Amino acid sequence: MEYQIKSGQPEKQRHACIVVGIYDSRKMSRSAELLDAASNGYISAIVRRGDIEGKFNQSLILHNVPGLLSDRILLIGCGKEREIDEIQYRKIIRKATECLNDIGAMEAASYLTELPIKGRNLAWKVQEAVISSEQTLYRFDQLKSQKETDRRPLRKLILMANNRGELTQGEIALEKGIAISAGMSLTKDLGNMPANICTPEYLAKQAQVLAKSFSAMTCKILEEEHMRELGMGALLSVTAGSQSKAKLIQLEYKGSDKKKKPIVLVGKGITFDTGGNSLKPPAGMIGMKFDMCGGATVLGVLKAAALLKLPLNIVGIVPACENMPGSTATRPDDIVTSMSGKTIEILNTDAEGRLILADALTYAERFEPDAVIDIATLTGACVVALGYEASGLMSNHNPLANELLNASQIAFDRTWQLPLWDSYHDVLKSNFADMANVGNMSAPAAGTIVAGCFLSKFTKKYHWAHLDIAGVACQWSGDKKGASGRPVPLLVQFLLNRSE
Ligand code: BES
Ligand code: MN
Ligand code: ZN
Repeated sequence: MEYQIKSGQPEKQRHACIVVGIYDSRKMSRSAELLDAASNGYISAIVRRGDIEGKFNQSLILHNVPGLLSDRILLIGCGKEREIDEIQYRKIIRKATECLNDIGAMEAASYLTELPIKGRNLAWKVQEAVISSEQTLYRFDQLKSQKETDRRPLRKLILMANNRGELTQGEIALEKGIAISAGMSLTKDLGNMPANICTPEYLAKQAQVLAKSFSAMTCKILEEEHMRELGMGALLSVTAGSQSKAKLIQLEYKGSDKKKKPIVLVGKGITFDTGGNSLKPPAGMIGMKFDMCGGATVLGVLKAAALLKLPLNIVGIVPACENMPGSTATRPDDIVTSMSGKTIEILNTDAEGRLILADALTYAERFEPDAVIDIATLTGACVVALGYEASGLMSNHNPLANELLNASQIAFDRTWQLPLWDSYHDVLKSNFADMANVGNMSAPAAGTIVAGCFLSKFTKKYHWAHLDIAGVACQWSGDKKGASGRPVPLLVQFLLNRSE
């Protein structure tokens, strides 16, 4: 969709539709009042009559309002004026976008950017309006033979600034919103694609396609032979049961001086997680096509960074493979040697994410990174701990963790820090190898942290943070099943902060 920033009074606009808010109970927003005055009380009369009270999720479309130049006025119920928070704002935008897409106006000017949200300025509201509208209109219908087509889809949304002085910040926010949305949509497309199509090879191909579209981006794919030479025994142990060949995707975005140390993003790219020989039960296996959402996030973030031409060097690494059972697959009790030289006793082949990440994180050392952030749908325990609200954040460097917490607050893409205290490491002790890949399976405790502790053994040489996105990357089941595009907003905000 096309977006634009404009300023000006609503009664002076000539558009297919003007969108304004009504607060609970029957209270007009500033723009609604201006429209009301110009139409000689037409709108307030309708509101007084009770056709719309301003409760959230209400909407009312008015045609040919006297005294106005626009064809339609869309009133959106916003709930209590003082209670509009970030979540409510997103829902209001979603509702408005759905209505606009339905009524066939095709083009509209929205004054919802004037709604008051504590601590958020116009730039934030513009950026969020773009992201929420794009996510509302997002569909994954590549694999449907009958596509639902909108009769007259919304093509252009004009977001209104209060005055001319706000236009510049509005335009910058628009660009950010568009770039973040584009990144999120890529992440969602890759996540939603099923594992029979979205194989490691497919992911590698998509990374190459992405790199081709930006002159500042290059892509290199490492094959299994190369991984073997590098000694990536942990990664290779995960792909051992699969017919598909593992790929290590390496994307490089150069937006800054060669000498500037890069930020390395490492994303878990398990294209399907059956659990391997420690097979998952059927219900727990559904949705495991989403186990590459960390990798998809890396691609999405790099796309957004390249669109925004961020003055940073960023490396994206995605170890991509499939976790399958079978006679060639790794067995519980097997011991493998990781690229770091450390040996790992694999007690559960379903704890595969940390194995591929261990080698990818060791590989990251060669970029002499300024910071490394890995993103992974790593543990079901993270869903238990934080639900679908926040990703789990763990780090070996508190300033880096704080940067991510700060970015998460700004982007309202929430994350919550968990500790990696020494005592949590104890359960990973092995009688036969340097470490085990899981703690005590019959009495699991702090599963997300234990997984973080495992990864931390491979990240001693740099500043590192880990995002467990098992709860936020997608809805794993139900009718809203699908990838969310998170935490692209968080990571792009982190990079934006680093660019300043
Ligand atoms: N991909 C899963 C984690 C997961 C589970 C994400 C459910 C989202 C929803 C991961 O590979 C896994 O299987 N983890 C195990 C670890 C356990 C064996 C220590 C888990 O969470 O059960
Ligand atoms: Mn698993
Ligand atoms: Zn997994």
